[in-house]
Amino acid sequence: MNITFCCTDTKAEPWLAGLRAAFPEATVDVWQPGAAQADVAVVWAPPQRFLDEQQALKALFNIGAGVDALLKLRLPPGVRVVRLDDAGMSVQMAEYVCHAVIRHFREFDGYEADVKAGKWSYRKPRDRKDFAVGVMGLGVLGERVARALRVFDFPVHGWSRTPKAIEGVFTHSGEVGLETFLSASRVLVNLLPLTPDTQDILNRQTLGRLQPGGYLINVARGAHLVDADLLALLDSGHLAGATLDVFRTEPLPPEHPFWQHPQITLTPHTSARTLRDESIAQIAGKIRALEAGQPIAGVVDAIRGY
Ligand SMILES: NC(=O)c1ccc[n+]([C@@H]2O[C@H](COP(=O)([O-])OP(=O)(O)OC[C@H]3O[C@@H](n4cnc5c(N)ncnc54)[C@H](OP(=O)(O)O)[C@@H]3O)[C@@H](O)[C@H]2O)c1
Repeated sequence: MNITFCCTDTKAEPWLAGLRAAFPEATVDVWQPGAAQADVAVVWAPPQRFLDEQQALKALFNIGAGVDALLKLRLPPGVRVVRLDDAGMSVQMAEYVCHAVIRHFREFDGYEADVKAGKWSYRKPRDRKDFAVGVMGLGVLGERVARALRVFDFPVHGWSRTPKAIEGVFTHSGEVGLETFLSASRVLVNLLPLTPDTQDILNRQTLGRLQPGGYLINVARGAHLVDADLLALLDSGHLAGATLDVFRTEPLPPEHPFWQHPQITLTPHTSARTLRDESIAQIAGKIRALEAGQPIAGVVDAIRGY
């Protein structure tokens, strides 16, 4: 077997070492233009030239959960695109989102400012029943996040394309369920994949349906959010704030108003990082399963877009 590695902005050596240890019988190399045809590729943001040259690939393993950028490229015919299926990301996402929700709900930013000013002050406890959290996308990451939020007794709503049942979570689905889902939520967490159906889905109209004092946590993709609409809703007071981990352009350009906005907390696309060892173990298991003709999880449906 010939395994090729083509990952932009990723240190190749540790990945190659892990893959070679898992497949001592295989050739595992970093792709170079003109390289021999490989059977399987491990990729992140590969150039179009890589895909044009590697026409014999049977499977492309993306070292992230989101495949929106990969699906914009021209892929070899019949290739299976496989995304990371958790691989240590869902627990990171759950801790990031719970942290953001609790920080907002418990007004920790306000306490921090008071303490810095030398003020010993109390705020009136808020009722968590007034802070229903809506999780958009109930896949591998969204479901874990919804369950984690329930541990803190927040009312939790979830929205997905097809109907889902998750204990303790009010679930909604499809276009018809969107309005009820939004109006039931005060804090909105986005964990949708970026597809033609979900691009720009966080806009003036949808965010405007959240309960007054709404709060946005976007941890999926920057192109889900219409930036100007978020700013307008913060200015109008309808939204109380936002925590953003992903942006239309990354790194976020220095002149972007999000940097300095007092109601926006931002992090540099770090809510759920790819963990190398877990990812290699998962990819190796799936390559072995494919070799044995067994089904694997995480195969992307290119028509659906995720
Ligand atoms: N910021 C970060 O560090 C980071 C890290 C990892 C991933 N991500 C982002 O998180 C996203 C989600 O990852 P995942 O592994 O949870 O994905 P996933 O398992 O594919 O789940 C996607 C969920 O979204 C729902 N969905 C898709 N299209 C929809 C639509 N048009 N309307 C309503 N619901 C829709 C799906 O509904 P069904 O269940 O009905 O199919 C599913 O519940 C990734 O695509 C990626 O963009 C971000």
